[in-house]
Amino acid sequence: MKNIQALAGLLAKFFAISLLFVSSVSFANIDVRFVDSMDDSKNTLVLVVNEPGALTGYSKTLNESTEQNFSALLSLNNFTGKFGEVQTLQLIGGFEHVVVVGTQNDLPLTAPELQNLGGKIAATLSSKNKDIEAIILTDNLNAELDDAAAQIAFGYHLRHYSFDKYKASKADGKSSLTFVVNNVSLNQNAYENDLRFLAEGVHFTRDLASEPGMSLYPQAFVERVKEKFKGIDNINIDVLDVRDMEKNNMGALLGVGKGSIHDPRLLVIEYTGAKKGEAPIALAGKGITFDTGGISLKGNDNMWQMKSDMSGAAAVAGTLYAIAQRGEKVNVVGLMPLAENMPAEDAIRPGDVLNTMQGTTIEIMSTDAEGRLILSDAVYYAQQKYKPKMLLNIATLTGSAARALSDEYAALITRDFAFSQQIMQIGEKSGELVWPLPLHPNHFEQIKSDIADIKNSGAGNPGASIGAAVIATFVDEDLPWVHLDIAGVDWLSADIDVAPKGSQGWGVRFMDELVRQNKP
Ligand code: BES
Ligand code: ZN
Ligand code: MN
Repeated sequence: MKNIQALAGLLAKFFAISLLFVSSVSFANIDVRFVDSMDDSKNTLVLVVNEPGALTGYSKTLNESTEQNFSALLSLNNFTGKFGEVQTLQLIGGFEHVVVVGTQNDLPLTAPELQNLGGKIAATLSSKNKDIEAIILTDNLNAELDDAAAQIAFGYHLRHYSFDKYKASKADGKSSLTFVVNNVSLNQNAYENDLRFLAEGVHFTRDLASEPGMSLYPQAFVERVKEKFKGIDNINIDVLDVRDMEKNNMGALLGVGKGSIHDPRLLVIEYTGAKKGEAPIALAGKGITFDTGGISLKGNDNMWQMKSDMSGAAAVAGTLYAIAQRGEKVNVVGLMPLAENMPAEDAIRPGDVLNTMQGTTIEIMSTDAEGRLILSDAVYYAQQKYKPKMLLNIATLTGSAARALSDEYAALITRDFAFSQQIMQIGEKSGELVWPLPLHPNHFEQIKSDIADIKNSGAGNPGASIGAAVIATFVDEDLPWVHLDIAGVDWLSADIDVAPKGSQGWGVRFMDELVRQNKP
């Protein structure tokens, strides 16, 4: 108690400016506020420390008010201040927990680095308590960004997730965070009107990708999206059913969906944030709600993970949610071909030939190479109907991409290397990294069929490029086109800073950044 009073006295002097803005927004289980003066009524304090030997700002104040106990504890625990180092001290300065976060770095911290710090803080705090009330001080941060605190809040929000709807006891409690910052309105605006929607979009993507196949079939996906987008401005949702697909000759999408009792759908979310006539950015995501492999049946090892074979479609939905909620002045159309790939008496077989909307035919070599089939019709439809200025597709397309790049990078394929290099910086900026794989004329040679125009797989290697070549066959050569194969990154086998293990909702931050950079 004595400590609290001593601290409060010092603080009153230290922060001369009174509380100017206090505002908070509550969501299901996170509540973030930005204030401009210290509020020590919380049980947990989070501090950023660069040099434990030369404390500055609030850390210094705390050290003085605790008669140097704070710095003594830091050195007792060998805290170095190195970027990403996190330690929790107990019962110091009147707080139950003081979490110190090292942020020493040669260069000013980037947005993804700040988000990672936020994620680390979330993981550390939730390991202490279910419900969290913390005050977070970022006064010592070495960052160029003005909205650094909002970026930390965003990273916290990203990490503060658990898919516990099927559990009797819910894992996550409520987090109430108070950030003390110099620029309240800027940080508040960045978080409340922008970044929190992005976090919610990522969480929505994870919810969809984590949902079992039995409850998330094509029409169920459509309903979840319609529910989520209810009441959002400038959104129009269009759903093509089997009859509509037949009219459009979408034989590839129809073919993949044929073996399931759940009919396929083509879900389209149109967002018109800019002028009506402005050409949109088209985002097409693979939406296989469960991939058994079909007649080319998969083995049982990890087959359960194929419930997330709609991660691409889920990421497209999550991205549109974020963009529409913040009211970005841009036109974006999201296309989500949805189908369940099942083996059944009426399923397509290897050797079958499917008609596509393009008017060309595809011979099926493997019914397990189904993502490229549904995307072929979807990207063709996207170009015909929407005349986009840019087209991106995102898909858990090949084990080959996962083997090549694992968890660190999504595979990026475009028609030329210079464009790929341009796109790589979107990965760096957004925190979702991509690395190029090639698309060579020989890859198109490999998918020539003896009896149809093309076939859906080649001899095997290089699988990710062959898959991309099938889709590229349906994309106008002059259209800027980005293909992302996220088979390796969509599902985490261990926690990372901004996501607990499981679906990480990969692609929302990437596509969001792509859209930010390509606004009219
Ligand atoms: N959905 C899978 C790809 C996949 C594998 C995603 C592992 C996530 C983790 C895709 O439909 C598939 O089965 N691809 C085949 C293609 C092959 C038959 C040409 C593959 O990569 O083995
Ligand atoms: Zn698949
Ligand atoms: Mn497959």
